[in-house]
Formats: sequence, structure tokens, C-alpha cells
Amino acid sequence: MKKIELVDCVKFVGKEIDVYGWVESKRDHKKIVFLDLRDRSGIVQVVCDEKAKNISPEDVIHIKGIVKKRPQHLINKKIKTGEIEIEAKEIKILSRSNPIPIPIDTDGYEIKEDLRLKYRYIDIRRKRMIKNLRLRFEAMMFIRNYLHQKGFIEVETPILTKTTPEGARDFLVPSRLQKGKFYALPQSPQQYKQLLMVGGIEKYFQITRCFRDEDPRKDRVYGEFTQLDMEMSFVTQNDIINLTEGLITELVKNIFPNKHFTQTPWPKITHKEAVKKYHSDKPDLRKNKNDKDELAFAWIIDFPLFVEQNEEDFFYGSGRAKFAPSHHMFTAPHPDDIPLLSKNPMKVRGLQHDLVLNGFEVAGGSIRIHQGEIQEKVFDLIGFSKKQKQEFNHMLEAFTYGVPPHGGIASGIDRLLMALLGEKSVREVVAFPASSGGRTAVMDAPSEATKEQLDELGIKVVK
Ligand code: AMO
Repeated sequence: MKKIELVDCVKFVGKEIDVYGWVESKRDHKKIVFLDLRDRSGIVQVVCDEKAKNISPEDVIHIKGIVKKRPQHLINKKIKTGEIEIEAKEIKILSRSNPIPIPIDTDGYEIKEDLRLKYRYIDIRRKRMIKNLRLRFEAMMFIRNYLHQKGFIEVETPILTKTTPEGARDFLVPSRLQKGKFYALPQSPQQYKQLLMVGGIEKYFQITRCFRDEDPRKDRVYGEFTQLDMEMSFVTQNDIINLTEGLITELVKNIFPNKHFTQTPWPKITHKEAVKKYHSDKPDLRKNKNDKDELAFAWIIDFPLFVEQNEEDFFYGSGRAKFAPSHHMFTAPHPDDIPLLSKNPMKVRGLQHDLVLNGFEVAGGSIRIHQGEIQEKVFDLIGFSKKQKQEFNHMLEAFTYGVPPHGGIASGIDRLLMALLGEKSVREVVAFPASSGGRTAVMDAPSEATKEQLDELGIKVVK
């Protein structure tokens, strides 16, 4: 692509160049018109004659012009191209813009979020949003390279699949070929990644979308969010913790170099201690909560394997069982506590590890059950009926063909980036998040299906 990034114009002093971008602003001085031309990299000043008078903000234009050094007293230190300007020879309007419905020269926090999401494609022109999306990409690139070097393989797993309960409602997709049946979108690739361990992959990761129908919060995207999902064979809990700590530490050092850690290595706190001392299983351990660059990471371990089952745990069992998994139903009990599974399940500790950052849970995982009989015992304790157990028979069967001991972790990329960028909500680090009402940005889904579509699926909508 020949287009020059506007910040690079400084490299072409004395030369004629072609530049393209949006008109950020126009200052009309009768015979001379100054334009600030903007692209994703920054701004450059263009000096035009009267021909530029009919140009409006946000028009997309093409300028052919000479790059000139500005006299000393006109240098603008606030912008990267402040030492130069472009003297326009030719101006071409490539596309006109109506007056835009939201301002983009502010940080945007003052605008109603629904309006920002309706016009997200304009909202993204905002410097802060471009920066967030760029850093998100840099972070993902870093993660992929880091894990590649550590011998991990990224494997994609299906989106049209069967329920994998993680504590939320499923999104269902009707099947056309088998009328009356439904796929569930995965709440996480949990079962597939464990099956990949049975498949001998040993070191798996995936940057993947997860789908959960749960109420949005400032640290929770509605509908879908992105995980860095990992699973490893022949590992201890400490191996998983050390790998994750190494990865995120290097990520911060490379992509967010201004940040500093409250404590290294990151403290490990038992669940009991966290609740007793901080009244929370995701304590905010920053020394100075006004310091935007302080990162207080901590591991929370020794969670109870079960919590009391409440009405929200509708998908677990028949509702008769008292126990719901604290993490999920594939988490292994602490080996010392296995005898307690029969005697006193609420006393059993799970080999779960959560990572908290400044009061947010940014990752969670565990060593998994790899013995069929223990998995069945947990299914029983969470009140699975015979039929419900059958839904997971593929796991029990897979475990009969040589399963390595394994464990893993998943980090919420959106939430991690929100905390690293000091953003107010996860939606600030997602290009097109759903609104708090569960409607998608710009396109305003969900929408009604046509009668033909419904007939083909054998579905009748009851109003
Ligand atoms: P869990 O359900 O704890 O574990 O999810 C892992 C991490 O994903 C992030 N997260 C979210 N981020 C944004 N919006 C959401 N709605 C949302 N829900 C979760 C959090 C959380 O810590 N399969 C297991 C992982 C494993 O055991 O390996 C799982 O998904 O940062």
C-alpha cells in the first residue's frame, strides 16, 4: 500500500507527496485555509488556498503537496508532525461527511454509551479508541509469540457445539437438518481443550470467543467475550501459575512499560485468608489506589470445591443437590481431601487458581479431574440425573483411553486489558460490544426472523 502514515510526513521535507485522511478541523483565514488532516497515526497541518473553503470536518480528502519545514516560532510541539506542514498543490474530496452525531476530539466518556455504540464506527476514530484497539492487537501478538516460543500450539475448537456449563445461560442455535434440536454456543472451550489433552497435544492455547447469556456489568461484556485459553498435560498447579505469571509479566513489560507491580513474585493467598482478611475473593491489593500505573496481581488458591447451590444454578442437576461447583465441574479435588468427597463435600478444597488484578478476576483455572470415577462422583454431588450425566459421557469415555493428568487456565482478555489500560469498562477495549440492554453495536441485533426461516427450522414464536 502506498499511503503514507501522516506521522511519517516529517521524513519527506522538501518533497512532493500524496496524503490521505479525514479533515479534523479547518481554520479559514480568507486567502489561506489551514486544514488539520487526520489518519490513524496522527495529524498533519495542510496549508491550502481558497479552493479548500468548501471542505468540511470529517470529509475524506486526498492532498498532493510539498512538505515544508515550519519557521521556528510556528513549530507546534503538541503534535508529532509539528515541525512541518504540507503546502497543498491539489485537493481532491474523496467523500463528503455530514456533521457527525458525536464529538470525537474528546475522550468520549461524557457521551451516552448507547449513542457511542450506535455510531461505533465514528466513535472508533477517537484517538483513545484507536490506541486501545492497537494495544489489544499488540497484546495478542505478544501472547501468540510468547506461547509459540514455549512450545504451545494454538488449536481452534467449534463454536456450534453442545453445552459446557460455566455458570451462565447458554445461547442456543436451532438446527435445520435436525429439526427440534439445538446447538449451544460454548461458554468456554473447556471440554474440547481437555479432549485435546487426551489427543496428546500437551500444550494448547487459543485466543477464542466465549458466549454467555448473563447480565452485563462494567467488567462483563454481554453475550461474547475473548479468552486466552490454555491447557497443559503433566503439570502441577505451580507450573500453570508460573507460566501465566511469566507470560503476563513479560506482556506488561513489553506492551505497557509504564506500569509497575505492587509485589513480585505475585502473592499467593488462600481463599480462606482472602475472605477473612479482605472480605473478598478478588481483593484490590494496590498500595495507592490513585496511582493509575500500579498493578496489584495476586493468586487466590485453595478454593472450596463446592459452594451452596442456589436457584441461579439452574443448569446444574435437578435443584435437589446442595452443591454447585465453585469453579466448574471438571476441577479436581485436592488429593488430601478426596476422602471428604463422601463425608463432607463442603470441606473439600479444589485445585483451582484465580488471578486477580486491582480487584478484578482476570483469570481462572484448575487442575482437572482425570479419573472417570471421581468425575462421576462430582456429577452426582451436583445433582446430575442419569440423563444429564449421559450428556457428558463423551468425557467419561475419553478418559478410558489413556488420559494424561492435566490442567489449565483462561484469562479474560477484555477484562485484563481494561485493568491494564485503566479503562472504566470492558466495552472500551472491544470494537463492537453489545449495549447494556444486550443489543449489538451499530447493527442492533437481535432481530426477528422471517416466517420462511422459522418454518425451515420448525420453530413457532409464541408472543
Ligand atoms: P471462567 O469462567 O472463570 O473460567 O473464565 C475465565 C476468565 O474469563 C473472564 N470472563 C469474562 N470476561 C468478560 N466478560 C465476561 N462475561 C466474562 N466471563 C468470564 C474472566 C475469568 O477469570 N473454562 C474455564 C477456565 C479454565 O478452567 O481453564 C473458564 O472459562 O477474566
